[in-house]
Amino acid sequence: MSEFLARPDHVRDYLARRGLVRPADRVSVAELGGGVSNIVLRIEVGERRWVLKQSLGKLRVKDDWRSDRARIVREAQAIEALRAVLGPSHLPEIVYLDRENFLFIMTAAPLGSVVWKESLMEGGRSDPGIAREAGRLLAQMINGSRADPVFQPEFLDRTVFEQLRVDPYYLTTAERHPNLRPQFDELIAYARNITTALVHGDYSPKNMLVSGGKIFLIDFECVHWGDPAFDAAFLINHLLLKTFYRPRFASLYGEALKEFRDTLAKGLGDERPGEFERRTMRHLGGLMLARMDGKSPVEYIRDEDVKNRVRRVAEQILIERPDRLGEVVELVLRAISRP
Ligand SMILES: Nc1ncnc2c1ncn2[C@@H]1O[C@H](COP(=O)(O)OP(=O)(O)O)[C@@H](O)[C@H]1O
Ligand SMILES: [Mg+2]
Repeated sequence: MSEFLARPDHVRDYLARRGLVRPADRVSVAELGGGVSNIVLRIEVGERRWVLKQSLGKLRVKDDWRSDRARIVREAQAIEALRAVLGPSHLPEIVYLDRENFLFIMTAAPLGSVVWKESLMEGGRSDPGIAREAGRLLAQMINGSRADPVFQPEFLDRTVFEQLRVDPYYLTTAERHPNLRPQFDELIAYARNITTALVHGDYSPKNMLVSGGKIFLIDFECVHWGDPAFDAAFLINHLLLKTFYRPRFASLYGEALKEFRDTLAKGLGDERPGEFERRTMRHLGGLMLARMDGKSPVEYIRDEDVKNRVRRVAEQILIERPDRLGEVVELVLRAISRP
């Protein structure tokens, strides 16, 4: 069979051939603005609301960047396995998996859900509560995946995490900042050698769809068994980048950061909490600089002056090695208030 590329006008036939819709069904398909690595379509069949996701081999960015398409199968498997850990209301349900064509179909988030990134950009008042929920969910994913022996063997392969995170974020940024090579080498060693829990790999407000104060978590393409401090740093990085971008919401983001950190620490319990936060801050410095100078720069910070402020703080984190989030928040607040 020739390869099927998910285009809106081909989807109806595809669904019919696979027995997923009947001839009388009304089907509507629309493209969803996704990231750079997949085709993502919204499908409505009568009352049913689905999302189809198909992985691409070559990513749509300026730099040449490729990744293994079979990651889509792992993503579907992670979503299925995590439903037992996080609860079915926090994740899609997998409706159909097509390994040959590197795609799956899942249920859509509840109607009226808002991408958390969008409410953050507008300074939404409920954001600290959502941040608390993000901390609680992350702790649950870490604790639950450690407690269940299915996860480690199934997600041990780190190829996709190397292709989509270690290479474009850490290795590329280190090449562009040779003076920080030792600091990046340390982060790469963490990412490769610390293997204690399931890691989402893209734990970002963009992948959290919120309704009724609850998070529906999506986009597990970088999932692997590794260092969970990476996820904590990933989310914190997004909140701090938004602080640079929208200084007028700094106190709101600060509150969200504190809620996230405290809920996560509480959820993880007493198991060397200082150590987890310290490693989180190390990853944070690398991720912050990577979102300026890696292969996937953050799209909303374009002003060179703002970029330089971010770069300076990221370098400070990497070199001065603060151990606590509170210290990093101070650095950011000072950087944004400087004339
Ligand atoms: N199950 C879903 N329900 C509702 N919207 C979804 C769902 N899955 C994806 N989306 C939407 O499509 C976008 C892209 O999907 P995502 O899985 O994040 O792909 P990418 O890896 O390309 O970022 C998401 O940001 C979200 O807006
Ligand atoms: Mg996404």
